[in-house]
Amino acid sequence: MFNIISYDERIKNFDWSISEKELDYQPGNVINIGWYCSDRICELGKADKPALIWEGSQGQEKRYTYNELRLTSNGVGQFLRNLGIQPEDRVCLFMDKIPELYIGFLGVLKIGAIVQPLFSAFGDESLIVRLDNAQTTAIITQRKHAPKVMKIIDKMPYLKHIIIVDADPSKPLGERQVAFDMDNAVKPDNFEIHPTKAESPSVLHYTSGTTGQPKGVKHVHYSLISQYLTAKWVLDLKDSDIYWCTADPGWVTGTSYGIIGAFSNGVTQCVLDSGFSAENWYRFIEKHRISMWYSAPTAIRSLMKAGDEVIKKFDLSSLRHLASVGEPLNSEAVIWSEKVFGKAFLDTYWQTETGSIMISNYPGMKIKPGSMGKPFPGITATVLDADTYEPFDGPGRIGLIAIKPGWPSMMRTYWRNEETYNKKFRNGWYLPGDRSSIDPEGYFWFVGRDDDVINTGGHLVSPFEVESALLEHPAVAESAVVSKPDFVNMEVVKAFVTLKPGFVGSKDLDLEIMNFVRKKLSPLAMPQEIEFIDNLPKTRSGKIMRRILHAKEWGEEIGDTSTLEND
Ligand code: WTA
Repeated sequence: MFNIISYDERIKNFDWSISEKELDYQPGNVINIGWYCSDRICELGKADKPALIWEGSQGQEKRYTYNELRLTSNGVGQFLRNLGIQPEDRVCLFMDKIPELYIGFLGVLKIGAIVQPLFSAFGDESLIVRLDNAQTTAIITQRKHAPKVMKIIDKMPYLKHIIIVDADPSKPLGERQVAFDMDNAVKPDNFEIHPTKAESPSVLHYTSGTTGQPKGVKHVHYSLISQYLTAKWVLDLKDSDIYWCTADPGWVTGTSYGIIGAFSNGVTQCVLDSGFSAENWYRFIEKHRISMWYSAPTAIRSLMKAGDEVIKKFDLSSLRHLASVGEPLNSEAVIWSEKVFGKAFLDTYWQTETGSIMISNYPGMKIKPGSMGKPFPGITATVLDADTYEPFDGPGRIGLIAIKPGWPSMMRTYWRNEETYNKKFRNGWYLPGDRSSIDPEGYFWFVGRDDDVINTGGHLVSPFEVESALLEHPAVAESAVVSKPDFVNMEVVKAFVTLKPGFVGSKDLDLEIMNFVRKKLSPLAMPQEIEFIDNLPKTRSGKIMRRILHAKEWGEEIGDTSTLEND
């Protein structure tokens, strides 16, 4: 029996109070995600249950029970409080997928501060725009990532503390640095949790748009109501499950479901902090007897590429439920997973801004491979005509996905960017920026994004950010960044570049520019291909027309070029 029991029954008279009741939350009361994910689970009698099983790249393992999660995150809270961190201060987590990241997340929330998770692969440029926007007070990081912070420290007067979780006691600490060994710190048994309320800010995730700098998506503690219930009904988390969410908490999946959804449901979750290989992933599933696996299409396609033979070497019989998020999950991948694992990956659709799953396939519901499924109970979603912003009369037409605001985990604003936030709404609908159609049975079929944002391997990359980084290279005069098709990542970043006088395109320059972007931004944002050209297509007003370059890469019709300057 699945937790959701019956989708058709659940959508009737659905009310979020179902989730509130299960969490013993009453409107107006204190609600703190850090507390719900550790202290409350202990109160429910699971203090000695393993909460987190972590495996590092060298095969080393660490385990934390729910009580250890509670105590260690209390220690984090205490340490931050002693440093003078105040409620609503922004505390950035800049770490690999190590236990300190998961526990630090809960500790920051326990004192009412705002968590700002950032990928440890980010370079200094990616880091500074996000820290600057958030005016971050403290950053918790590892020795190996600290140099990237130190490089830009002079530009960040607001950043008071650089907390190193694995400091070398024999070496002096740098400017503003402080050592904090989470496992061996003081861990108060009675810790005063900050009495956050439903609308108190919790998590600030940065996401990339087409224009402008990345936007800080502000979430609140009340998001738990959505994250808990969607994890329970869609991921079907049960007490007996060993759960593996492969996402990095630098990304919203890694926090909403890799931390909050998992721990608030009191399951045991495993974390693998090492690079991808099919063999290693299957070994991990076999070793820990993973039963619920939440992953992403790029990973699934990589596994497909590795072939079926390798699967036979492992006992994967523990797997009982699989789901996927982040990019279109092609029907081939669904059919393949059913063949090799005996279970189909269920596609789920949502985004950083929505904070939790919006449209999904549900355990027990008829799956149509290639479709994203149906709206979660309580979510009203449709597609709108892109010209009128009105819903279509009947099914089958492609339009803009639109969701009626009002679910608990909806973002509350873009940090210091209310104007862009307001633009996300039309006629009372929230527009995530994606296109889809709906079939006569109410299933959503994803078509594509409605902007130029590149979704590479499930990660959103802004062409604007990559272009800005490219322009900082001494050889680059102008650039235009678009996506190009790729089997595994669906899309990868491609840059068209014109060079300054005196520079000539070459393989070496190509690699040098790629590396330049990788270091400044991140490996994901690095162009996989650079094409040197003499002129970029521009409008008569001088705006670069990415659309034309994009169409060329995808073999599509170029469309209206009447505004083109050099046609
Ligand atoms: C895309 C990820 C197709 C979409 C949780 C969305 C998807 C963006 C799917 C959000 C899916 C997410 N099928 N596309 N199942 N899920 N997307 O904010 O374009 O990193 O708007 O959050 O990824 O990406 P984000």
